[in-house]
Amino acid sequence: MTMDTPAQLNSAQLNLARRLARPELLELQPYESARRIGGRGDIWINANESPFNNSRLDRVNRYPECQPPELISAYSQYSGVCADNIIAGRGADEAIELLIRTFCVPGVDSIACFGPTYGMYAISARTFNVGVNALSLTTSYQLPEDIMAQVGSAKLVFICNPNNPTGTVIDRGSIEAVVAGLPDRLVIVDEAYIEFCPDYSVAELIEKYDNLVVLRTLSKAFALAGARCGFLLAKAPTCEMVMRVIAPYPVPLPVSELACAALSENGIALMREQVAELKVNGERLTDTLRSCGAKVLSANGNFVLAEFDEPKAVTARLTQAGIVARTYSDPRLSNCIRFSFSNKEETDYLIEQLSQ
Ligand SMILES: Cc1ncc(COP(=O)(O)O)c(C=O)c1O
Repeated sequence: MTMDTPAQLNSAQLNLARRLARPELLELQPYESARRIGGRGDIWINANESPFNNSRLDRVNRYPECQPPELISAYSQYSGVCADNIIAGRGADEAIELLIRTFCVPGVDSIACFGPTYGMYAISARTFNVGVNALSLTTSYQLPEDIMAQVGSAKLVFICNPNNPTGTVIDRGSIEAVVAGLPDRLVIVDEAYIEFCPDYSVAELIEKYDNLVVLRTLSKAFALAGARCGFLLAKAPTCEMVMRVIAPYPVPLPVSELACAALSENGIALMREQVAELKVNGERLTDTLRSCGAKVLSANGNFVLAEFDEPKAVTARLTQAGIVARTYSDPRLSNCIRFSFSNKEETDYLIEQLSQ
């Protein structure tokens, strides 16, 4: 990631990134870690590191690169998004928080999101005293028709696609219309589950729109939730603004190695096999839920949301069987249980328990 000075940026892009950023960031000189300053030589005594590597992992006594080039390059190859338009960090959750901290003035600005949806947009905003315009998806889980009016003055508009917890999707055309219709806001499309329905991705539109941001993660289809690795994809000026706020070393070295292995040709092939297997198991589970009388939404991620007449009885039954599924305090979801897709063995057991 190069840190272009504002004067080097194309003026239309510069205007959007600068106009939306918190004013104090425009003058901020980002922290220059020893790793970023770099240097030439054989003896590295510029970062107060230990010279002893006590681990089996190579170079773990040294600070990692802020944005490991091999990781950025691997994600660029996988996603088709140019390396200058990618920031790697500690999961999509960190990206949500970074966007709020970069662009929203506490006590003044707000975000918009469409519920029921992933809770961290609102929680991250509230932890920074940023307002939340909590809008609703339509009854068919689409964006409201008068969305431009509804978002009000929100600076950041979050769209989760596929949406958690409903599992529903919004087509690319509708998302593009919102991005095109809100050129003065950042429209952030959270594609945490996109590997389960890749045709819905809008990542390729990043080249076209200065105000589009896409969030991705290795926590879901890539099976690396414990590693904490996610990506923010956006035009370079937006990335450069976010880079003023990001921690000096957001990607630990072992995480970068795990992530690069997951993004290798073999890693991607394995991910696709596992996605296919999860979908088969998910369909079996969905059929069972339907035959139990539950109302089930179309599942486009690695989970299915089911609405029951007697959710408490179902939860009690699951608990008795040692199965932990997700219930909600949101009144819109009070009769719903979300089931993550699993392997064959666990799905067989779950189906057996639900069928009783
Ligand atoms: C829609 C959505 N976005 C982001 C996240 C968080 O992803 P990460 O593990 O990369 O922080 C989740 C996790 O459940 C999610 O459902």
